[in-house]
Amino acid sequence: MAAAQVLAVSILLALASSLAFASDPSPLQDFCVAIKDPKAAVLVNGKFCKNPKLAKAKDFFFSGLHKPGNTSNPVGSKVTAVNVEQIPGLNTLGISLARIDFAPYGLNPPHTHPRATEILVVLEGTLYVGFATSNPDNRLITKTLNKGDVFVFPVGLIHFQFNTGETNAVALAGLSSQNPGVITIANAVFGSKPPIRDDVLARAFRVDTKLIDNLQAQFWMDNN
Ligand SMILES: *[C@@H]1O[C@H](CO)[C@@H](O)[C@H](O)[C@H]1NC(C)=O
Repeated sequence: MAAAQVLAVSILLALASSLAFASDPSPLQDFCVAIKDPKAAVLVNGKFCKNPKLAKAKDFFFSGLHKPGNTSNPVGSKVTAVNVEQIPGLNTLGISLARIDFAPYGLNPPHTHPRATEILVVLEGTLYVGFATSNPDNRLITKTLNKGDVFVFPVGLIHFQFNTGETNAVALAGLSSQNPGVITIANAVFGSKPPIRDDVLARAFRVDTKLIDNLQAQFWMDNN
């Protein structure tokens, strides 16, 4: 009987811990300011927390989001992220922010956030935005957004934002993770290190290996 209870409890604990890591956890305390030095710290959800009594305003603060990002790059856009790396007080809170700048006709290329839904508000300019749904439909949902318009990109789905105007555009995005992650599709597929075998990609994209070699030879910079 006792052994059976131990087993039942172990299974429940195993289930609970796997569920807790399925997405950003809800905190069981007011906050858990992330610190690198483990001295005099408690461990919550994989990061060391600062003793809450020592928390300061600077742990919850970032300055500089009024500054435009440098869009002088091949895609003409720049993402300035404000997540747990910039604000250690975001640790365990399941939220972060980004500023996205676009040169005229600049593109934030197709990408996904593996851990976050994104809600975007256009502050300046006009953006043509969209996301594709998962298999089997792969339905493309798009919208042209003007200043003040808000749009949602559901967690994990491939999405993009394109400045269709002749002026700069600026957007702010809220993300439902302290660390949303970014996978830029072209970079991950054609710019991985080491490269994916060209015959694998040729078969997947139904083109010849020459075209794949050409794509793999491009410089796949990311804009974040
Ligand atoms: C913007 O980035 C480009 C390319 O890296 C660089 O040449 C330029 O100096 C940068 N501009 C500013 C204002 O930092």
